[in-house]
Amino acid sequence: MGSGSAVPDQRITNEQLASRVDTSDEWISTRTGIRERRILSELESFSQLCKKAGSLAIEMAGWDPESIDLLILATSTPDDLFGTATKIQAGVGANKAVAFDLTAACSGFLFALVTASQYLRSGSMKRALVIGADQLSSWVNWDDRKSCVLFGDGAGAVAIEASDVQDDLLGFKLRSDGQRGDCLTLPQISDFQALLQETSYQKGGFLPIQMNGQEVYKFAVREVPLILGNLMQELEINSESIDWLLLHQANKRIIDAVADRFKIPYSKVLTNLSNYGNTSAATIPLMLDEAVRDERIQKGHLIATSGFGAGLSWGAAFIKWHGPI
Ligand code: UT7
Repeated sequence: MGSGSAVPDQRITNEQLASRVDTSDEWISTRTGIRERRILSELESFSQLCKKAGSLAIEMAGWDPESIDLLILATSTPDDLFGTATKIQAGVGANKAVAFDLTAACSGFLFALVTASQYLRSGSMKRALVIGADQLSSWVNWDDRKSCVLFGDGAGAVAIEASDVQDDLLGFKLRSDGQRGDCLTLPQISDFQALLQETSYQKGGFLPIQMNGQEVYKFAVREVPLILGNLMQELEINSESIDWLLLHQANKRIIDAVADRFKIPYSKVLTNLSNYGNTSAATIPLMLDEAVRDERIQKGHLIATSGFGAGLSWGAAFIKWHGPI
């Protein structure tokens, strides 16, 4: 029914990054398609971004925030380990909604969208606000050129509503594989300290993102076409009927490889990662909102989407954009 998004004001270009780590605009843009990213500074906050994205989606949907039953915040970077969702619930005025965080890294938005839709399909809830947002800049090692060039901060949101008339989530598939999870982690520090005599506790804290880029790349170019293809077969959808391919924005080469696999022309591929990099759980709703607001995505358009990332986790869905009534 509505979408919204928000990115920080602070912009960091590839050239600027090259003054800190041994890299270049040429390397980053040809290997990834990224030219710049937005990073939260002390002038803005993560929850402000989430709140802005959520409020814009509610406004587009034309909803009274008090009519929202459910708010799911997909994030791996809450500003409170007990969860950020309730802060956003209060911030957007969704006072009657139950709110919780959901963590599935870069697949988080898709997992949260599907989770929310199950509450709506079961009839137990009517309206849900689903937000995907991350502040990975806090967890990147800014001296590791193999990973720091990829990530940025952002938030995106959708407002979804149950309908007796039509179900615009045509189908979905979600997958997890913990056995291959080691290639992308943000692990807890193993820091055990003495508590009392002969007792200890683990002091909290996390290491920066640990990534084997090539393994993640291979995983994505193998699994994304597979899961999309299986879903297309199941739903009897052929690639010509797809209006937009909207993949998790991690690397332009991954996006192009998937488009090529299904012979989807690049004119039907949505990408904005040159401006924002990989904003993790935010990439899909951020891109969706941009294309809705500039009127590329129209009512009834069929969107093929797929998210993938740490866990490992991945999934795909076919969605028809409805928009406000
Ligand atoms: O949401 C999921 C998050 N993760 C991802 O999406 C990561 C997926 N993987 C990728 O996107 C790509 O693997 C990367 C962009 C991370 C790396 O691209 P690649 O083509 O796989 O490069 P590579 O790791 O094979 O490295 C090639 C060379 C290496 O140098 P040598 O050993 O050949 O001399 C790297 O040291 O490029 C070097 N390199 C860089 N050079 C300049 C790696 N990072 C950089 C850099 N600037 N930032």
